[in-house]
Amino acid sequence: MKHVLSSDQYTRESLEEVFALADKVRTHQEEYKNKLEDKIIAIMFYEPSTRTRLSFETAALKLGAKIITTENAGEFSSAAKGETIQDTVNVISGYADALVIRHKSVTSAIDAASVEKMPILNAGAGKGEHPTQALLDLYTIKRKRGKIDGAKVAILGDLLYGRTIHSLIKLLSLYDNIEIYGLSKDVFALPQEYIDMLKSRGIEYKKCNSFDELPKDLDVIYHTRIQAERFEGDFGKEEFIINKKVLDTFSSNTILMHPLPRVIEISTDVDDDPRACYFEQAHNGLYVRMALLLQVLDRA
Ligand code: CP
Repeated sequence: MKHVLSSDQYTRESLEEVFALADKVRTHQEEYKNKLEDKIIAIMFYEPSTRTRLSFETAALKLGAKIITTENAGEFSSAAKGETIQDTVNVISGYADALVIRHKSVTSAIDAASVEKMPILNAGAGKGEHPTQALLDLYTIKRKRGKIDGAKVAILGDLLYGRTIHSLIKLLSLYDNIEIYGLSKDVFALPQEYIDMLKSRGIEYKKCNSFDELPKDLDVIYHTRIQAERFEGDFGKEEFIINKKVLDTFSSNTILMHPLPRVIEISTDVDDDPRACYFEQAHNGLYVRMALLLQVLDRA
């Protein structure tokens, strides 16, 4: 059974297959509009979402599938009465052909997949991973830059709880001559396990303390929101804010990415800058998620 659970499951070759299929559905949408017409996709989100849920729903609808969906599953599904993820999946597999799930538990998607009754797509698992976001992020880098090898990438914001960061750096580490720079408040520093993972793949992670320490010829600045919903207490606001003045210290080829939603970390005065590509990035997610649904349902 095919699932999308973690960035760990991908190779360069399998990533290329996703990207090629995303390009194909993008340019030949008419050909794909009935590909999943006999399928029902269940979409269960136990945490809030705008992009991931609605882009998966749109992806399913554009492929001709029908959807059954719960956008506040923690409250409106029987999880509120104590039902386990495994029991929920066992039941839903009698209704639908694939399940897209977002949950606060790091192991939620793996738990769901352990039932082995239906393909599971991890739409965000606590502070762990968000692999479909990482796939669309990498697809965006490839479309903007032409290739991923040799990319100099700065990761900013919440590197501790930011699941998009964790999934993205795993995928980046599959490529050659990647440089990764980190800039965050110390309290949101990248966990050692990820620094060790990068090192084991030949990437020396460079922790920076100011914008001045970042190379000016970065290919990508990838900012993220402080995930305030994941911790108790107040660690203050983001200190490293990208505005026009800051962005203009970087190369005209540096692209500015963000998985969104943003709060204060990217100022709206850069939205019109040609380097700001977060809205394009979100749109790319539609095609990547169409490709993933086709793959897990063996209609690629
Ligand atoms: N990037 C992302 O996961 O956005 P949503 O929380 O809106 O789905």
